[in-house]
Amino acid sequence: MARTATSPATRREPAQAPKRPLDETRQAWLEAFRRVRAETEARAANLSAEDQIVQSMADASPAKWHRAHVTWFFEQFLLVPHDPAYRIFDERFPFLFNSYYVAAGPRHARPQRGLITRPNGEDVRAYRAHVDAAVERFIAHVPAADAERVLAIVEIGLHHEQQHQELLLTDILHAFAENPTDPAYDPDWKAPRATQGPRGYVEIPAGIHAIGHDGRGFCFDNETPVHDELIPHVRIARHLVTNGEWLEFIAAKGYATPSLWLSDGWTTVQAEGWDAPGYWRKKDDKWHVMTLGGLRPVDHAAPVQHVSYYEADAFARFAGKNLPSEAEWETAARANVMADVFGIAWQWTRSAYLPYPGYRAPEGALGEYNGKFMISQMVLRGSSLATPEGHERVSYRNFFYPPARWQFSGLRLAEFV
Ligand SMILES: [Fe+2]
Repeated sequence: MARTATSPATRREPAQAPKRPLDETRQAWLEAFRRVRAETEARAANLSAEDQIVQSMADASPAKWHRAHVTWFFEQFLLVPHDPAYRIFDERFPFLFNSYYVAAGPRHARPQRGLITRPNGEDVRAYRAHVDAAVERFIAHVPAADAERVLAIVEIGLHHEQQHQELLLTDILHAFAENPTDPAYDPDWKAPRATQGPRGYVEIPAGIHAIGHDGRGFCFDNETPVHDELIPHVRIARHLVTNGEWLEFIAAKGYATPSLWLSDGWTTVQAEGWDAPGYWRKKDDKWHVMTLGGLRPVDHAAPVQHVSYYEADAFARFAGKNLPSEAEWETAARANVMADVFGIAWQWTRSAYLPYPGYRAPEGALGEYNGKFMISQMVLRGSSLATPEGHERVSYRNFFYPPARWQFSGLRLAEFV
């Protein structure tokens, strides 16, 4: 995995910045560590102890679990193997808070995370404080000869925690959407405003383009290796598909027209009884949607959210268009021809989540991070309103199963000419 130990998470640095003195590097990492850890707590601060226990479906995890799991990640992959002075906080915790790392040992069943009322929230707070203090000591005192190697683990731990910061919000929104009182995560929450201006399609530069991360600054292993792809003559929508456009799909009986759907998609529509995007419901005969600010009227001008791959694909067929491939999307992003690339909705692509040519998962348990999921999922690009600032990249590959729609997932269209 191409990483450097001199570019703290969430901070942008010029490519090939001169190497800093070690003390400055340590200080930068300490600050980055504190900033990211504090953001997790800030996001959880809106939630009561009861909110933090709930697990509303197998795919979602309790907020308390997220806070503990990201802490376990530093304990398991940084402190235990690299800090001889570190003492495990509680021998029971690795079983409870390991997610899917088979090489890191046995783990609790994912669908039953919501049953763990103890350790309680106070125990998790103490666990975080214990690991925070140990990581900060470690960053301050790690021998110079080991610094680059182990600070790279701090770096991936911070990016990992940022991913869970997003999940903390998507998972609690799912739980709140199950609550008949429509609770708001934040009553003052404001939806990000989409770019206005002329809609339509823009040309993507056709030809052979480099796709993937070039190794300057942090990336996850699944963004590598950088490789050439042939981009056809295709145009991409400047804007994201809106709720207003989605209402046209609903009005045209899109959810009841089997010819628009992939076979698995149609089976899912029928099994789930879908007739609108996730979290949409009719109130006083008007469509409303559950948001982080509670139940609100659907804004026709806003980009659609909480659609599955199946729905995105059906909508594209309805519109007589296509979804872009991830390579087309990345080429367009690098050419700066799209609006709302980041910060509103992840955008489904028509690309299956597969290894790039020559990809090899890293050695060891961290090799399980991305590589073993490269089957049966689809790639989303961009970032969403829940993505922490500084976590987005043009080469970033998010991935979910085709029926998933509890993420902030939308789409933009492409057309072949
Ligand atoms: Fe994780």
